[in-house]
Amino acid sequence: MEPGLASRGALPAAPPLPRWLTRHSLSPCLKIRNHIYSMPSPTYKVPSVTKCQASLATNYIRETSEVVDLDWENLGFGLVETDFMYVAKCGPDGNFSKGEVLPFGPIAVSPSAGVLNYGQGLFEGLKAYRKTDGSILLFRPEENATRMITGAERMCMPAPTVEQFVDAVKQTVLANKRWVPPTGKGSLYIRPLLMGSGAVLGLAPAPEYTFMIFVSPVGNYFKEGLSPINLIVEDKFHRASPGGTGGVKTIGNYASVLKAQKIAKSKGYSDVLYLDAVHDKYLEEVSSCNIFVVKDNVISTPAIKGTILPGITRKSIIEVAQSKGFKVEERLVSVDELLNADEVFCTGTAVVVSPVGSITYLGKRVEYGNQGVGVVSQQLYKSLTSLQMGLVEDFMDWTVQLN
Ligand code: COI
Repeated sequence: MEPGLASRGALPAAPPLPRWLTRHSLSPCLKIRNHIYSMPSPTYKVPSVTKCQASLATNYIRETSEVVDLDWENLGFGLVETDFMYVAKCGPDGNFSKGEVLPFGPIAVSPSAGVLNYGQGLFEGLKAYRKTDGSILLFRPEENATRMITGAERMCMPAPTVEQFVDAVKQTVLANKRWVPPTGKGSLYIRPLLMGSGAVLGLAPAPEYTFMIFVSPVGNYFKEGLSPINLIVEDKFHRASPGGTGGVKTIGNYASVLKAQKIAKSKGYSDVLYLDAVHDKYLEEVSSCNIFVVKDNVISTPAIKGTILPGITRKSIIEVAQSKGFKVEERLVSVDELLNADEVFCTGTAVVVSPVGSITYLGKRVEYGNQGVGVVSQQLYKSLTSLQMGLVEDFMDWTVQLN
């Protein structure tokens, strides 16, 4: 076997550092577990710490200021690099190592990694909010852990246990706690990744997996902010098909929607609403969020049937709506119903609840509530976000308090 190429089961040896990394050799350059490198980026904020275990990270952050000095009023949904990320590895025994909290930075993977060649990868998204007393709340992190386990099974990957996942999220958030926006200014978006990092050539599951988490402070997902978004119903592309991977959070699902999204945005729409690939008349989801229609105070949303992502915000909105006495139906929802709805809204971790102001289908535009925010959407948004931000008592027992 060639030196540096791992046999199935062994960790791949570190490739030599590329020139663009060694260029920075005057600054501390980190070699981690033989094959992940991190280096200070131009905006890097923790120059004096090169590597730290979770406990060291916890000590370190005690010495830093409580909240970073950012322009919190103008946060959008773009990456803001923070201090630390979390990394854990899993070899062929299927067990993840005790992970490490490391300085945020680039990683190196083999060009032959399963994730790069065959898309063996999943991601998750969840948020941490700062309460008015300064403490930090996570929202239903065990739901993301469970969804990652389901997705990993579909993508032939081992997954961290629910405990490992939740513990890793907590460590990552605490290490980056000064990046959690002040109450009401946004949230810390948490992005767990699971990928086949081991080298493969023939089509096969990778021999090694990496579970990582990075975070970024975020504000509103859509540039419209909390104003209603304008969707176009896609009549050419589909997001998922029966038997495919539409129901799990695999990275390829998100690459596959970029084309239609790009076309829609070039025409001034906010995003694309997909229909089912079999009948072309039932709603599935928007590129990155679930869809709800409201008619006569009955809330309907497409049922989870393999092609739709089981959104955690979707599930939470259904439960909040039911707790408020709304009738919620999970079933096939047709385009006709959409066009005749009183209100339409989307849900997702990134968007939370986003009211829809108009839908365009085959050239016909239908507007809802005079472009205003519908009363049901408004009520559900308020109820859910108050819970997430700890502004009301957590009667659902959904939040996990840190520090
Ligand atoms: C999320 O809401 O977490 C998503 O997956 C959307 C993402 C594409 C930003």
